[in-house]
Amino acid sequence: MSSKQQREIVVAADTAALAAAAAQRLINRVARDGRSAVCLTGGSSPEGLYRSLAEEPWRGKVPWDRVHWFVGDDRFVPESDPLSNMGMARRLFLATAGAPRGNIHPIPTDANYPEGAANIYEDELKNFYGAERLDPARPLFDLVLMGLGPDGHTASLFPGSRALDEKNRWVVAVTKAGMEPFVPRVTLTFPALASTREMLFLVDGAGKRDILQRVFAGEDLPGSRAHSDGELVWLLDRAAAPEVLS
Ligand code: 6PG
Repeated sequence: MSSKQQREIVVAADTAALAAAAAQRLINRVARDGRSAVCLTGGSSPEGLYRSLAEEPWRGKVPWDRVHWFVGDDRFVPESDPLSNMGMARRLFLATAGAPRGNIHPIPTDANYPEGAANIYEDELKNFYGAERLDPARPLFDLVLMGLGPDGHTASLFPGSRALDEKNRWVVAVTKAGMEPFVPRVTLTFPALASTREMLFLVDGAGKRDILQRVFAGEDLPGSRAHSDGELVWLLDRAAAPEVLS
């Protein structure tokens, strides 16, 4: 099954332009009054964005007191481990740019087991949202960032995994990762990730061209199944963009 949702595809000239375009989209999403929520992603594709958010002009545009930061998946390692997605986000921008500690919501990888961490994080998301069920008219997140692996995985939702079909849980444990690093993961499910005003894929580098072509052709891959209750935007750099788009 692939998402039937219309996707907007934006091609940036290079990785610097991709980071700037992503930063602008993030600012637009968190600019509303009141609390906002951003769901971060791991991998290398968001690194430019994260670095930009720690620097002017972007740093001064983020209403740090009002934005809450979650993560769509993490490796079951301590946050100090270089493999940790939230650890990377903290290092690259959250710790230096002025995000209040209470606004940072890591997956508790210090829990005894990945399943326990998934349960705790699901409760935390439900508390934040204020309800047990997601209402498409009132999304959990303002922005969900996503990446695309060379096998078509997104978040820690790997091809062939049972987690792809999860309809009720918001967060699940993934005991066997589909590719490196082979550590257990904890991931939000498609329904939780979809509860957003905007889902923004960040994909860069020529190494992603083939898998992007397969996703855009509608092959049944996790990246194709991802959908959003709001907008679905794929932001690519020219190197990653399939020929017809670049
Ligand atoms: C993870 C990520 C994962 C990532 C893709 C793309 O924990 O590994 O959340 O889903 O986004 O693997 O990674 P790159 O950006 O490094 O290609």
